Amino acid sequence: MKKIIANFKMNKTNSEIKEYIMKLLPKFEQGKVDLVLCVPFTALTISKFLLADSGINLGAQNICDEDDGKSTGEISGTMIKNCGADYVIVGHSERRVKFKENGRIINKKIKLALKNRLKVVLCIGESLAEKNTLKTNEVLKAQLEEALKGLYENELDNIIIAYEPVWAIGTGKTPLVKELENTIKVIRKVVTDDFSPKAGEKIEILYGGSVDLKNCGTFCKIKNINGMLIGGASLDADNFSQIIKNIK
Ligand code: PGA
Repeated sequence: MKKIIANFKMNKTNSEIKEYIMKLLPKFEQGKVDLVLCVPFTALTISKFLLADSGINLGAQNICDEDDGKSTGEISGTMIKNCGADYVIVGHSERRVKFKENGRIINKKIKLALKNRLKVVLCIGESLAEKNTLKTNEVLKAQLEEALKGLYENELDNIIIAYEPVWAIGTGKTPLVKELENTIKVIRKVVTDDFSPKAGEKIEILYGGSVDLKNCGTFCKIKNINGMLIGGASLDADNFSQIIKNIK
C-alpha cells in the first residue's frame, strides 16, 4: 500500500481544517492508501477528533530538540503524542534553511520523536547548486548519516525517508524518472552500508517536491518508491482526493 503524506505547512486555520476534513472524509476509502495529514500544531487536537475512526493518520510538522520545559514557544514530543499524532516531519528543507537546523539538531529531534513513539518522516534533499555541481549523492549520504547516527536497526521501522530535492519544492520542477530511480538506489545503499541489506530494502522512501494531479501517476509507478510527500497539491480537498484516487 502506498503511503501518502500531506504537508499543510503553515496553512489552514482550525475552521478551514474542519471544512477540509469534512470534504475529504466521504471521498476517502479505507485500506487503499496509507494516508497521513501533517497539520499545524494548532490544529492537531481538532483534527484528531474529526479523523476518529477514519483510518487517516495524523502528524505534526516539527518537534522541539529538547524535552525539558525551558524552551519558550516550542512544542515537545510528549505534547505532540498527547494531541493524538503518530507522525512528525523532521529535517524539512524549509526548517534546515530558515531555522538553521543542522544534522546534530535533526538527530536529537529524531531520538526524541522515537522516545515518544512518534514515527519520523525524515526529509533529505540537495539544493540546486549542489545538484549542478554533481554533489547530490554526497549531500544525501551526509544528511542521512548525521540524522540516523546512533540509531539501532530496529528503530528504522519507525523512520520514513522523504527524498525532497530543494529545487523541486513548490517550483513545479521535478526530477526525471531515471534520475529519481538512481537517487533512491543511492539512499537505499547508504542504509544498507550503515545498517544491513535487509534495512536498505525495507526502509520506506517517499518522493516529495511538486507532486500534483498530473505527475502523481508517474511517481507512483516507480518501483523502489513507497509513496509521496505532498505540499501545495494537498491543500485543496477535492484536488487531493483525486490524487489519492489516481495513486491507489
Ligand atoms: P510541494 O511541497 O509539494 O508544494 O512542492 C512539498 C514539501 O515541501 O513537503
